[in-house]
Amino acid sequence: MSEISSVLKESRLFKPSTDFAKRAHFHNPSAYKKLRAQAEKRPDKFWADQAKHLYWQKPFKKALEWKFPFAKWFIGGKINAAENCLDVHLGSERQNKAAIIWEGEPGDARTLTYLQLSLEVNKLANGLKSLGVKKGDVVGVYMGMIPEAVISMLACARIGATHNVVFGGFSGEALRDRLNNSKAKVLLTQDGAFRRGSASALKGNVHSILDQIPTLEKAVVLKRTNQDTPMKDGRDIWWSDLVGKQSDSCKAEALDSEHPLFILYTSGSTGKPKGILHTTGGYLTQVKYTTHYTFDLRDEDIYFCTADIGWVTGHSYVTYGPLMNGATVFMYEGAPNYPGPDRFWSLIAKHKISIFYTAPTAIRAFMRSGDDLPRKHDLTSLRLLGSVGEPINPEAWMWYHDVIGGKHCPIVDTWWQTETGAIMVTPMPGVVPTKPGTATLPIPGILADVVDRNGKSCKANEGGLLVVKHPWPAMLRTVFGDKERYTKTYWADFKKNKFYFSGDGARKDKDGYIWIMGRVDDVVNVSGHRLGTAEVESAIVSNHKVAEAAVVARPDELKGSALVAFVTLKAGAKAGNPDLDALKTELKNWVAKEIGPIAKPDDIRFADALPKTRSGKIMRRLLREMVTTGKTSGDTSTLEDFSVLEKLRQDEE
Ligand code: PRX
Repeated sequence: MSEISSVLKESRLFKPSTDFAKRAHFHNPSAYKKLRAQAEKRPDKFWADQAKHLYWQKPFKKALEWKFPFAKWFIGGKINAAENCLDVHLGSERQNKAAIIWEGEPGDARTLTYLQLSLEVNKLANGLKSLGVKKGDVVGVYMGMIPEAVISMLACARIGATHNVVFGGFSGEALRDRLNNSKAKVLLTQDGAFRRGSASALKGNVHSILDQIPTLEKAVVLKRTNQDTPMKDGRDIWWSDLVGKQSDSCKAEALDSEHPLFILYTSGSTGKPKGILHTTGGYLTQVKYTTHYTFDLRDEDIYFCTADIGWVTGHSYVTYGPLMNGATVFMYEGAPNYPGPDRFWSLIAKHKISIFYTAPTAIRAFMRSGDDLPRKHDLTSLRLLGSVGEPINPEAWMWYHDVIGGKHCPIVDTWWQTETGAIMVTPMPGVVPTKPGTATLPIPGILADVVDRNGKSCKANEGGLLVVKHPWPAMLRTVFGDKERYTKTYWADFKKNKFYFSGDGARKDKDGYIWIMGRVDDVVNVSGHRLGTAEVESAIVSNHKVAEAAVVARPDELKGSALVAFVTLKAGAKAGNPDLDALKTELKNWVAKEIGPIAKPDDIRFADALPKTRSGKIMRRLLREMVTTGKTSGDTSTLEDFSVLEKLRQDEE
């Protein structure tokens, strides 16, 4: 019996347009197929060839050393991440090219060329040194989306300090726990940030709790909003006072390829956050490669990835990937719905954005507010769209394709994780036809597969577990300070085969395309059928009245478990359907028709919003606990909005 039963039916196919394919970095499908086959046979050789596109202060001797489950890449090489993002462009025609075009939420704007960015990075790097930060020290970054966030990361990288970025929306407690776990010595932060029309405090919010971080010696505070900000004598220092007096030249440290570049905490669905550790040479290699080819990036592009630098997407595809490739990165400070829900579309039109990379949760939110808003703006500058973070349900994919992409932009659905560091599965846009809802094929050099519990490859369309069968350069090296947790979480399930287990359920179709069915922790078991939440939710969302859905199971005496679907409706759908019981029946029958009676929800509950992490993932665990025990327990520090949970709880009573 397969691990997970698949119920999704989707057969639409979109070939790369001739116009797009003609100019694409990868444009010959058979050459691409051949490259993938060669790289599959000799992944280490493939990645060593890619690593040669980086600037090494000292060349590496060997591609991979693999002592299960610990990998080292590009042994003997010396490299610096900041140098690869900045210095390599200086003295070339890119020196005066815009590296970052930034817009603040209030509409203020800044542009930093590669030269200017590099001088700022050098000054801060010297400032950090003057505070006693040395190679190997950890520096916390707690900032919003402003150029200094990128400057902070690169300044750390330049001197060999390891950055630990904590999302600016996290609470003081979450910041404290992460900085304590990583033993941070210095914190880079700002007075406040503009969000939804007002200045919200960052430093002020965490000021007193910083006393509970014994390793923390200094906090450097940038003025962004100029709001009143408490400062502690001897510990806290203004950014301008630190940086103003520094030289703008700073040597890039020659770092071992395995030198820790950053620690980034990921919560997973349960338990205490894990400090995912990434190192330098391998990470940069895969990030540079994937940014260039997945986004088909060119010098004339203006590239907008909407992720916050607090997430891995912000690390790999706002900072390191685009800058290594000499791209112009567009960065936006504020909320997507300020002053109106069309801010992104107006930014695209104003700055002539050509590549736009966002998350399905955002796409569904935009869909919810209707087609008229994007249609008001000129989006014709777009030539490629990307998606990341969750399975994109076919309905949202089609909307993204038609309404935002004007039916001519390829969509790169990119599957990867904080742990994988870089994109793993995605359609290279000039050569791989896309199907709505799948990230398609593993990229060259990535041996991803869907297997059963014994590690045997599943047959076509049989649901199983998504694994990676060979180390890859951007893989996490460990869970910071907890090798045991690293081994247990990622390598224990397939110890015999030495496979990495992603935690995701998936199936491969007859073309080898990988369809993610959701986290295996979220799989629902109905009458002995294990169904992936993504597929059932996708069927519900394909009803035009529905904006979002989350499906969980609750115990049921007869069936073992029953399906409960939490549903948010599109604008106007509630008013147009005053009889909610009739609407529930309609939606249940809809699912039965779309995917069969097996997946028909036993219970539908309408909600105004679903509980999500701050990066937009639905926290199904909380919903499951609520329908099972009536309470929620465990870690909720990553929950975006507690009132959502409270409201759902009241509805429950
Ligand atoms: O379940 C998969 C889902 O997000 C998980 C990784 O989350 P995180 O570490 O926060 O990283 C998000 C940004 C890379 C995966 O295990 N996921 C991510 N991208 C996709 C996806 N599921 C389906 N399709 C995707 N494109």
